[in-house]
Amino acid sequence: MTDEQPTRAPAAVVFDALGASYEQAFAASEAHRRSLEWLLARLAPGSRVLDAGSGTGRPTAETLADAGHDVLGVDVSPVMTALAARQVPAASFRCADIRDVPLADGSYDAVCVYFALLQLARGEQSEVVRRLARALRPTGLLALATVPLDVEDVEGVFLGQPVRVTSFAARDLTAMVEGAGLDVLAHEETLFTPARPDAVSEPHLFLHCRLRATPPAA
Ligand SMILES: C[S@@+](CC[C@H](N)C(=O)[O-])C[C@H]1O[C@@H](n2cnc3c(N)ncnc32)[C@H](O)[C@@H]1O
Repeated sequence: MTDEQPTRAPAAVVFDALGASYEQAFAASEAHRRSLEWLLARLAPGSRVLDAGSGTGRPTAETLADAGHDVLGVDVSPVMTALAARQVPAASFRCADIRDVPLADGSYDAVCVYFALLQLARGEQSEVVRRLARALRPTGLLALATVPLDVEDVEGVFLGQPVRVTSFAARDLTAMVEGAGLDVLAHEETLFTPARPDAVSEPHLFLHCRLRATPPAA
């Protein structure tokens, strides 16, 4: 290895190691299902949807594609991207970093970003939410889920993998999302315990948002 080797995104290392075991541990999340139902109830037939940090493709891309929507999943983990492409052939998947993957302005009817910001610094999380908001057409929808904790670069163990986690408290996350030009129309906060013998309950926050007709100043 030389100094010129690019550094892999920390999330790619963690999720390449987890693969399908992530889906098994989180499959029972009813709040995630309800979030997808919130979107499905509002999307016109054949909507274009971006799933940022698409994981294994289940349940998000699969549910939306099965309902007839045109879904692109983007994930930085090659293992997760390959698994999603295999499991959800009705959607498209691309292995890329959501921080810099090209996204045309105003090109999506909806964007999902479920639990995909936690390995990014706070400034990067804000910038990604702004990018995702810009990718929405006017009044497009954004569904965001995270673990709402006031933590910055804390070490932890996630499903047996060492991780460093950064997030926002619920109120600060909401302010960040509103600052990106989105109105929060609904939210759900819940506790979820992954299906693993060693797992502990974690708080989950789902925000259901709509892009304001007048976007924020750049
Ligand atoms: C906790 S999993 C959630 C997967 C899926 N969204 C779900 O809720 O089932 C987070 C996913 O986001 C991906 N991810 C994290 N940071 C990313 C980034 N900067 N760009 C693209 N994908 C990212 C990870 O590789 C992983 O597959």
